[in-house]
Amino acid sequence: MIDVKEIRKDFPIYNREPKLTYLDSAASSLKVKTVIDHVDHYYQSLGVNVHRGAYDLAYEATKLYEEARDTVSKFINANADEIVFTRGTTTSLNMIANAYRDILKEDDEIVVTELEHHSSILPWMVTAQKSKSKLKYVPLTKEGRITVEAFKTVLTDQTKVVAITYVSNVMGYVTPIKEIIKLAHQKGAVVILDAAQAVPHMAIDVKALDVDYLAFSGHKMFGPSGVGVLFGKSKLLNMLEPVEYGGEMADDVFKDHATFKEAPLRFEAGTPVISGAIGLAAAIRYIQKIGYDQIHEHTMHLKQYTLNQLKTLKGITIYNETADISTITFNVDDIHPHDIATMLDQYQVSVRAGHHCAQLVSRFLGVGSTLRVSFHIYNDINDCDVLISSIKASQDFFLSF
Ligand SMILES: Cc1ncc(COP(=O)(O)O)c(C=O)c1O
Repeated sequence: MIDVKEIRKDFPIYNREPKLTYLDSAASSLKVKTVIDHVDHYYQSLGVNVHRGAYDLAYEATKLYEEARDTVSKFINANADEIVFTRGTTTSLNMIANAYRDILKEDDEIVVTELEHHSSILPWMVTAQKSKSKLKYVPLTKEGRITVEAFKTVLTDQTKVVAITYVSNVMGYVTPIKEIIKLAHQKGAVVILDAAQAVPHMAIDVKALDVDYLAFSGHKMFGPSGVGVLFGKSKLLNMLEPVEYGGEMADDVFKDHATFKEAPLRFEAGTPVISGAIGLAAAIRYIQKIGYDQIHEHTMHLKQYTLNQLKTLKGITIYNETADISTITFNVDDIHPHDIATMLDQYQVSVRAGHHCAQLVSRFLGVGSTLRVSFHIYNDINDCDVLISSIKASQDFFLSF
């Protein structure tokens, strides 16, 4: 069982803000001390570039950077040469969508869903426009879920790409991805999985999934911002054109042509995010120490408790009661979500309000914006109680006019 009092000792923000009720982990998690220490160590004790220098400090920095790649690869059961360090999920997804602009042809089809974060739709929308291929949407169930049956209705012999979320950042539903990948492969399509919301909550095994590409960010899993991962099957990555050109990604450069390294360095032009990769590896070790079973049990307990309490209030609409992870999306009748969020901040309660960079989900729900609370291991029952009492106080305040 998770002992939140002990866990909070690992998160220095609670020294500054002991009364913080942080319920916005789906946007960005709080940062754990071991990550901060590892990033700090790089800057305090090394601070030099990787892959270039012939001196001791450079060897040490390179060793830490490549060990971080190793840690990431084992974490998702990939090979080290299949892990590209990027700036985050958005960069990883854009890199793949850009690379496919020259591969896709007129009449090819790209399948996405209405549950996608903008970073898993917009790059493909532009790629579809530039390559004259067709963007198709998997219809959602009434509850807002992606199902295998619905996926089958848009899958055709022309489907070349399936870009899909593993866990929705608004609804918290887990996509039945294994079966979808199998079906996509039968048609010869590649699958790009947005795992930004999955990695903070569930173990990922890219080999068991047989997924072609997968992306996630460090900052949602206790790690640094500015670092993320692009996984790609080695055969596929080496088939793609590099996305950026520059230092340490070329083998031989002549006046009129050049040859490029194999993945992953082929996709890491210029100085990479060294401290970020080292910090991300520390975050992974921290998650492994806690264990996903404990994370799931703890956060789902908080979610269920909060749902039960929310239902005791009047005028609350909950949109995703059956979410598979600990995300609750809801609205308070007659009060704009931004007003509630601003009011909750008076009680040091941090929640998200808006369309959560997933406007198609808001359109599906038929609302302009919603409130979202999301839990992680540093939250406790008191956080849930403070949330509920501050929503009640906000209702009393706004509805008294
Ligand atoms: C499902 C999902 N995909 C992609 C992203 C984009 O992640 P980042 O901003 O770290 O690039 C997010 C961030 O909220 C997300 O929730």
